[in-house]
Amino acid sequence: MSAMTPQQLTKQVLAAYAGTPDPRLRELLTSLITHLHAFATETGLTRQEWLAAVEFLTATGQKCDAERQEFILLSDVLGFSSLVDLINAADGATECTVLGPFYVPGAPTRAMGEQIGRPEDGIPTLVRGRVTDAAGRPLDGATLDVWQSNSDGLYDTQDPQQPPFNLRGVFVTGPDGGYHFRTVRPASYPVPVDGPVGDLLRGAGRHNWRAAHIHLIVSAPGHRPVTTHIFDAENPYLDSDTVFGVKDSLIRPFRPAGPADPPDVSYITEMDFVLAAQ
Ligand code: BEZ
Ligand code: FE
Repeated sequence: MSAMTPQQLTKQVLAAYAGTPDPRLRELLTSLITHLHAFATETGLTRQEWLAAVEFLTATGQKCDAERQEFILLSDVLGFSSLVDLINAADGATECTVLGPFYVPGAPTRAMGEQIGRPEDGIPTLVRGRVTDAAGRPLDGATLDVWQSNSDGLYDTQDPQQPPFNLRGVFVTGPDGGYHFRTVRPASYPVPVDGPVGDLLRGAGRHNWRAAHIHLIVSAPGHRPVTTHIFDAENPYLDSDTVFGVKDSLIRPFRPAGPADPPDVSYITEMDFVLAAQ
């Protein structure tokens, strides 16, 4: 009797899950087993490498707590979060990108034009544009939930010097779909590397910097919300963002304010958002 081959084993495992009653779960498990087995077979995975992977995933779980989600960070630095975003993106809408770990629901609703930060947070910047549907019609009552780090690359939740909800705010459009708010020019910042994801990045020789960005969740009744960023066109990390969040359509110049612009801001950036119908 000849020894079992990897292909025979894979077939046997697939057969054991072929009777999974839920069709979607069956599809996911079948594909997962196929790709996982192919990965080990193609690479000739050793027992030591298998154990190292188990220890890495164990450490990833152990690093998680109420504030830290090391598994999402792992998904982010492998480009997996961005891949799932791409697969689920709505046609014709503004491109989406990663939510990240620093979103806090419940930011205060602010008056249109309000400054979301403090003078010490960075260089004052005006952000403005319009929210429309896919046909270009302005969306009345669209909500922009905005958050970002200060010029040191720190979010309020990481920095005891910042009051809660600093550099965060919700803005609601009127009938023209227009919005504008004041903030500070965002800075690049490093993702945390004191856990297993840091070991992975170091092992791969990758840096841990995010390209400077402003986060937004743009939503409107009857439309699919978009979780996205505005990226600063002058940032050096646009081509190597550690979490693969950059899309060309989300990059905007931050131009110096001129004599015709509001006197209290140094930079202006403009971005329109398009939401697809639900
Ligand atoms: C962020 O942009 O806030 C972020 C996204 C992914 C990982 C870490 C931070
Ligand atoms: Fe961020």
